[in-house]
Amino acid sequence: MEDKTMKGLNDLCDKTEVSVVDTSKKMRIGIIGCGWIADAHMNSYLRQPDVEIVAGADLIPGKAKAFMEKHGVTDAKTDYASHKEMIEDKSLCLDAVSICTYNRQHAQPAIDALNAGINVLLEKPFTVTLDEAVEVVKAEKKSGKVLSIGFQPRMDANMKKIKEIVESGVLGKIYYIQTGGGRRRGIPTPFGTSFIEDETAGIGALGDIGCYSLDMVLNALGYPKPLTVSGYVSNFFGTDPNYSGYRKDKAAEYASKFGVDDFGAGFIRLEGGIILDFRIAWAMNLDTPGDTIIMGTKGSLRIPSTECWNGTTGGPMKIYHEVAGSQVETEIPLIKMKDELFDLKIRTFLDACKNGTAAPVPSSQILYNQAIIDGISKSAALGHEIEVEIPEI
Ligand SMILES: NC(=O)c1ccc[n+]([C@@H]2O[C@H](COP(=O)([O-])OP(=O)(O)OC[C@H]3O[C@@H](n4cnc5c(N)ncnc54)[C@H](O)[C@@H]3O)[C@@H](O)[C@H]2O)c1
Repeated sequence: MEDKTMKGLNDLCDKTEVSVVDTSKKMRIGIIGCGWIADAHMNSYLRQPDVEIVAGADLIPGKAKAFMEKHGVTDAKTDYASHKEMIEDKSLCLDAVSICTYNRQHAQPAIDALNAGINVLLEKPFTVTLDEAVEVVKAEKKSGKVLSIGFQPRMDANMKKIKEIVESGVLGKIYYIQTGGGRRRGIPTPFGTSFIEDETAGIGALGDIGCYSLDMVLNALGYPKPLTVSGYVSNFFGTDPNYSGYRKDKAAEYASKFGVDDFGAGFIRLEGGIILDFRIAWAMNLDTPGDTIIMGTKGSLRIPSTECWNGTTGGPMKIYHEVAGSQVETEIPLIKMKDELFDLKIRTFLDACKNGTAAPVPSSQILYNQAIIDGISKSAALGHEIEVEIPEI
């Protein structure tokens, strides 16, 4: 007899297909930028049976070598002064690179790698400006190689469930979305100032965590095109030497170097008559600026916010709808993930490169995400709503 309890519990587990990995050909991988997030890339690559890490490059002399030693990778080449030297080293026969550089150094290494015929896994945010993103997509199109953007929350079964709910039609026509969130005290300065200086980061909360919450809803809706944006940004917390989230001994230095947004908001009109109301904070005097809500003519979905917007849902989601004249709520239980999201991000990228299939997180979608972020920055600077213009590529 079937155990109904077990069946019920299993239904709540992630059912990601386990791919059978062909180990007859090893993928030759290089890492560009050997800082904080490169550790996560490396750890996941080392768990794959068909990967050889053959090179690493960092602008800081000795950093790539120390990074390889830390991970026990003894035979990778690291004596490069820049990403370009590594990409141009034909002896490496690189199949793919992970680009783990700070935001301002996303576009050029991606363009250089694609122009050299190398597949690219590019960390988020896609770029700093829309113009840069357009140039990267042009290089991708010319190369015919895989370019995937590093949105690991996409691999989360709960995120996939949001898309399934929208696509099922249970919400009817979607007309209004509220998304975003953020942290009470969470300006990221774990290893210095690369997230907060304009020279390295270019954008702050908008690009760091805002891109994730935009992706959560836009992906669910099939990425409708943004048409207009009215944006606002501020930096009241980051530029304050008394900001309590900074290390005491570094507060004055961090405040003086802070050159990006720590809060951003936008009112965006999307194709199909959909309104997107968005806000994101690295710091605020509030627990949360609200849950994500997707409002439709037949039902609405509430996705509880988290304390830090780390790419997850903060609890079970709820659908509010009408059944036979009664106003009811249906709870969607959280799904437990069996695999690390980062491992799935790396694995799906490798599979796309090996099989010549579509990128798991395609640039054609994230271009619209970037257009919104870019639109918010531009509109905020101008002080009025702008039309989003995305050139044909
Ligand atoms: N997906 C995630 O969960 C996640 C988490 C954290 C950071 N990130 C993203 O990863 C990127 C890097 O963040 P980080 O915290 O690792 O930064 P980091 O400052 O610790 O490391 C970046 C490294 O890149 C190097 N670098 C910059 N330009 C280079 C170039 N052209 N060639 C070679 N090396 C170069 C720098 O010297 C530095 O060592 C950021 O864009 C960030 O948004 C993603």
